[in-house]
Amino acid sequence: METRGAARRSPPPPVAVQLLFLLILLAVSSCAAASTGDLVIGEDYVRPPARRHRKALLSLFPWSKKKASSSASDPQQVHISLAGEKHVRVTWITDDNSVSSVVDYGTKAGMYTSTSQGESTSYSYLLYSSGKIHHVVLGPLEDNTVYYYRCGGQGLEFQFKTPPSQFPLSLAVVGDLGQTSWTTSTLNHIKQCEHDMLLLPGDLSYADYMQHLWDSFGKLVEPLASTRPWMVTEGNHEKEHIPFFESGFQSYNARWKMPYDESGSTSNLYYSFEVARAHIIMLGSYTDYDENSDQYAWLKVSLAMKSSFRSVDVSRGGKQEAKDTWWWNDEVQRAIKEKECFKRLHLDKSAANIKGYKIAKRAAKRAVSVAKGQAYDNLYERLGTKKGEKDIYRMARIHERKTRDINQIKCIKDGVDRLLVRDEEIKDRWREYFDKLFNGEEEGPILELDDSFDDNNRRFALLLLLLYLPFQADLAKIDRKRTPWLIVLLHAPWYNSNWAHQGEGDSMMTAMEPLLYAAHVDMIIAGHVHAYERAERVYNGRLDPCGAVHITIGDGGNREGLARRYRNPKPAWSVFREASFGHGELKILNSTHAHWTWHRNDDEEPVRTDDVWINSLAGTGCIQDSSRELRKILMAP
Ligand SMILES: [Fe+2]
Repeated sequence: METRGAARRSPPPPVAVQLLFLLILLAVSSCAAASTGDLVIGEDYVRPPARRHRKALLSLFPWSKKKASSSASDPQQVHISLAGEKHVRVTWITDDNSVSSVVDYGTKAGMYTSTSQGESTSYSYLLYSSGKIHHVVLGPLEDNTVYYYRCGGQGLEFQFKTPPSQFPLSLAVVGDLGQTSWTTSTLNHIKQCEHDMLLLPGDLSYADYMQHLWDSFGKLVEPLASTRPWMVTEGNHEKEHIPFFESGFQSYNARWKMPYDESGSTSNLYYSFEVARAHIIMLGSYTDYDENSDQYAWLKVSLAMKSSFRSVDVSRGGKQEAKDTWWWNDEVQRAIKEKECFKRLHLDKSAANIKGYKIAKRAAKRAVSVAKGQAYDNLYERLGTKKGEKDIYRMARIHERKTRDINQIKCIKDGVDRLLVRDEEIKDRWREYFDKLFNGEEEGPILELDDSFDDNNRRFALLLLLLYLPFQADLAKIDRKRTPWLIVLLHAPWYNSNWAHQGEGDSMMTAMEPLLYAAHVDMIIAGHVHAYERAERVYNGRLDPCGAVHITIGDGGNREGLARRYRNPKPAWSVFREASFGHGELKILNSTHAHWTWHRNDDEEPVRTDDVWINSLAGTGCIQDSSRELRKILMAP
């Protein structure tokens, strides 16, 4: 992929030679301008001297007052993000605290046919007090549709486009953005690229503890962030950290609320979402991630639930798989197949075939019964562990949110509205519910669940697990047919051959890489290192065709400059590396093919410098190979 294209500096040649060189350069550059897509340079590229910062720091004083917008009630720092299926969250800030958290919107300019009411928050840090931060969720919205909207019932009209529900899907990717003149170039280049959504793997404003820089960042990105969803995760610069003061993510969490609640997470620092048919997981490098952490437990449940719910969709909607259920293991499948064969022969009406069919039918029934019994046993074994209880309860909550077929009330009742209190009765009720659900019947009984973790709810939740865990391994295959792309973003890279931040992602990689590998993640995109690097598919430090493609893209344009020093020799997994500012574009064309490009900021022009086709793991044998490992990790207490 790499070629070495740039000349190194040498003593100035005579004037005539310089003129000749200039003419040649002009001719070459006009050709290059017409075909920049084919230009591949790489780590030896000597980029032009960087321009100085425009206004990296508006003020050195963290207590400086924000500048008022044209009117204190006008919306400022408007940005949008996804908020669950077919919903978008609009966030903006007003200096006037009396402005309502309301958004009027519609599909025609100036004609607002819908209104949504939301919530607001604010915070103080040292002597700084934020404006009123509004969060309003709009929807359900049409896919791939332009909406016009107005915040707080006044001010300018904005517009955004919702992402498509099917491929092709175009994602802009940028990390470590900051707010310098380099940032402005990057944003201008992103604006030129048609994209459905922007992904940012951490380090947004470089405000650190200087809160007014969050405001200037919000204003800087508003022209783009108000038109397409910006999905971000936190970097180290999102964390307020002053010696002797409590550190945290107060401003980031208040200003950049992401769909964590909608994805079953309890923290804004990690969450997931689906767009078109890609599942995207945003992990947190600066919160606990070890095997005993909440984040790890959520990730496990999230991956398991993703599979489970996809199977429910298939069993309810599909034709061939309409009878798929949680107990559908190999033995059951074999018995059912035998029964079906005899059934076909049975049409011949021969006595031998009729007898064979009856025997096979009994055998299939027995196999189902045994499989179900085993599944229940697995559940009860798991009940004994504390970790299991926690995971299971989360599963129940996610299920409740995703399917909307369990009402938020406090107890469980039977079909005639009688409150169930005995264990056996409760168990039977859940069994009935999921038997119907997984066998494709239209309506399961209405079950009741609330947020408290009392004995009753724990019992309900544990029963949910009974129905999910035994089936996970088989589900992976089905799942990836429906959601063929699985992409992860985090801040500190796991595969990094730059000297900057060397080894900082290692402990997170040790904890999480086996799980993500077993779940057959296609790409892992990081920031943090202020340069660009792309790795081959890799796992456990070695090239692996079933591993993820790793990309480091912490080169959005922050005030700290570029990380220019690389380790040599270059590791086998590193394909392309270059210390320049820029952004990436991922165009997912279909369920198997995506086109990744990285665009260097070359003065005023974005130059496509790295370019590769990526095949999804969904269509490969990797999924089959790793399904057993995935099941083992998911089942581990
Ligand atoms: Fe960073």
